[in-house]
Amino acid sequence: MHAVLLADEDDFEGWRDAARGLAVAGVPPREVTWQVGQGGGDLFGDEAPPPAADGPAFAVPRAFLTLAQSVICHSDPERFALLYTLLCRIRSNPQAMEDGADPLVQRLERMAKEVRRDMHKMHAFLRFREVPEPDGGETGGPDGAERFVAWFEPDHHIVRATAGFFVRRFAGMRWSILTPELSIHWDGERLTESPGAARTDAPSGDPVEETWKTYYSSIFNPARLKVGAMLKEMPKKYWKNMPETALVAPLIAGAQGREAAMVEASKRKLSEAEVEGLATADKAERRLQPGGNALAAWEAILADAKACTRCHLYKHATQTVFGEGPLDARIMFVGEQPGDQEDLAGRPFVGPAGQLFDRALGEAGVDRAQTYVTNAVKHFKFERRGKRRIHSKPEAPEIEACRWWIEQERTLIRPPVTVALGATAARSLFGRVMTISRVRGQALELPDGGEAWVTVHPSFLLRLPDPDKKREEYARFVEDLARIGERAKALA
Ligand code: URA
Repeated sequence: MHAVLLADEDDFEGWRDAARGLAVAGVPPREVTWQVGQGGGDLFGDEAPPPAADGPAFAVPRAFLTLAQSVICHSDPERFALLYTLLCRIRSNPQAMEDGADPLVQRLERMAKEVRRDMHKMHAFLRFREVPEPDGGETGGPDGAERFVAWFEPDHHIVRATAGFFVRRFAGMRWSILTPELSIHWDGERLTESPGAARTDAPSGDPVEETWKTYYSSIFNPARLKVGAMLKEMPKKYWKNMPETALVAPLIAGAQGREAAMVEASKRKLSEAEVEGLATADKAERRLQPGGNALAAWEAILADAKACTRCHLYKHATQTVFGEGPLDARIMFVGEQPGDQEDLAGRPFVGPAGQLFDRALGEAGVDRAQTYVTNAVKHFKFERRGKRRIHSKPEAPEIEACRWWIEQERTLIRPPVTVALGATAARSLFGRVMTISRVRGQALELPDGGEAWVTVHPSFLLRLPDPDKKREEYARFVEDLARIGERAKALA
């Protein structure tokens, strides 16, 4: 007998290494016991550790590894042994997984599906609540950042597997997710773990901010995930000729509405069957609607954006100011939010900051007409002072809510170079607070793998009171734009 002791319930690497060694040594499944935890692995007193995998490497179908990665997170204690049994079968018959009628394959696929559903629910239904800092400080922490805590009870061992999702979504926040088995914590830079917690360790009651509630409504959207995945796999130059592209526009169109219905369903605590029904209707609707290419997809996103109510800013602004420019642009510029004139005109960067931007682009040899220009936040945020509307800086929840649109624009256009003009744009693109002076003038990698550059916002130049300083900073800005232009050409 061989005893395998795995470090954690979701220890895929541990299982894989042990399974490889056992399979190479030809150990049959009935001669292996699998356990999780500290020591104490020897059930019968005659068990040996698994042999090291030092025989010739052997290949397994990618589909098996994908299946195994999900199944390992299942709560069924038999999962390790079941997977090892299938692995042994695959070694003697590489087609073993393709027998859809095989009870073992069916069982493992059902387990993988249950894990995926559990992860999906965690993505969709986990709710953070703001908590006071332990020191009771009014600023919410040493650097003024708020802290959020969520309680969740997954059915399976999925906390580590979902951590990346929450890090990407809430990269700029400090948060903890507490579950009975394991707790994870994100401080804006590092993910750490601690033991499981009790429900009473987490705050209860409604999430505090209306904008946060709105933001949550953006999380659960299968359409969005699929658009992203689909477009990533599909080089844009082939779009015109590919039948799948016919689905792109309808896929995007109305995604918000469908999502809102799903979120509404979850709020009303509809049964799982009803929520599932909505998702099925969503898929069916997509299948039924023909037509579409990159432009149609963009127009569909635009139509959705025009009706955006993801945060409260739509209530006072004149209109959504969406991005504009060619859809095959090599550079995407991202500003902060429309100003007074942009709000009235419905176009980005047409006011004073836009004019300065145009001039600098011209001096840098970059043709604005060849670029796509947009903003991190699509509605004008302002305070009224008499007849004047004074620009007011967007806050984290507004930026987060609006990231939906930037993600849609970037997924569709996939610019080789994206440029953050100022801190709000950088925060939106990177999902965390960035110090411009530290990252300026260099190619950076975005969380989705794209290339980004960060420079100042043109309004910063307009606000500089000292004319010499203004000239100096303007020259630096033109220099940045020129380098970005060269870089975009080099990536062509
Ligand atoms: N400032 C921005 O960030 N965007 C605009 O569109 C106008 C001013």
